[in-house]
Amino acid sequence: MPLKAYLQTCRERVDHALAQWLPDESLPPQQLHAAMRYALLGGGKRVRPVLLYATGAALGVEPSRLDGPACAVEMIHAYSLVHDDLPAMDDDELRRGRPTCHIAFDEATAILAGDALLTLAFEVLASDETMAAAPAQRLRMVRELAQASGHQGMVGGQALDIAAEGTRLTLAQLQTMHRHKTGALIRAAVRLGAISCDTLQPAQATALDRYAEAIGLAFQIRDDILDVEADTATLGKPQGSDEARNKPTYTSLLGLEGAKGKAQTLHQQALESLYDFGPSADPLRRLSAYIVDRGN
Ligand code: IPE
Ligand code: IPE
Ligand code: MG
Ligand code: MG
Ligand code: MG
Repeated sequence: MPLKAYLQTCRERVDHALAQWLPDESLPPQQLHAAMRYALLGGGKRVRPVLLYATGAALGVEPSRLDGPACAVEMIHAYSLVHDDLPAMDDDELRRGRPTCHIAFDEATAILAGDALLTLAFEVLASDETMAAAPAQRLRMVRELAQASGHQGMVGGQALDIAAEGTRLTLAQLQTMHRHKTGALIRAAVRLGAISCDTLQPAQATALDRYAEAIGLAFQIRDDILDVEADTATLGKPQGSDEARNKPTYTSLLGLEGAKGKAQTLHQQALESLYDFGPSADPLRRLSAYIVDRGN
């Protein structure tokens, strides 16, 4: 299947599952429920769920068993964006081509909608029956997602990002920040797909981890490049936000060409790590190419 069709199929699949987990807007507290739906539905590339489905496909896992983990990862991601856009953080007013959650609603509602999406993610992992997961599998997923999301992962990376505003980081420090704020959740998407496989071999887990590590970093490098190179309409979020806030990024440190070169190297590393997989890993290979070349 060509990548475009694959992306479309996975996106429709996860969108359908997400809509079922979200509370109805007509139920109180309506404003909170409306903000949760606003933040999660109607936009977004769904890269993390697609990666999770593609990892499952590489390992022969039924997609129906992957809907729960895919929803959980996307809920954490959506929450992270709502909080990332708040005035106290990046203070952005446009996201996915629409006003950010705190602009469309208000700050308190946006904070609470983020909190509610974060907690709903773990409810899904704990209770979704279609996952057909053994208790030990479920527990591993909860641990992986919690570690990737919290102080050792995304939240930790966001703390480094905020502290780094207006400063100059070394390349090693920048890489640590990117690995945490973006890489960790992307790695978790791949790991949750892998944990869903009942017959996962340690060598497969290691190879997929290497793949995820490479594309996780490449994903944020591409995000930094797009912040310089793309336009607001295509991005659906404000171009130049990093420069305006004086954020150290791959482009500010290495220049545009340097950042692009680094992304390409990581793409090659991702492909190499999948060397022992057959054609079932082709979606993962194509996704890596997409991540370093995407236009939004
Ligand atoms: C944006 O993530 C924030 C980063 C972690 C770089 P995405 O580029 O995946 O955002 P959506 O979900 O497609 O809007
Ligand atoms: C955000 O990084 C990473 C998150 C954990 C949300 P950015 O701040 O660069 O993401 P965008 O560019 O606003 O989407
Ligand atoms: Mg940010
Ligand atoms: Mg931001
Ligand atoms: Mg950015």
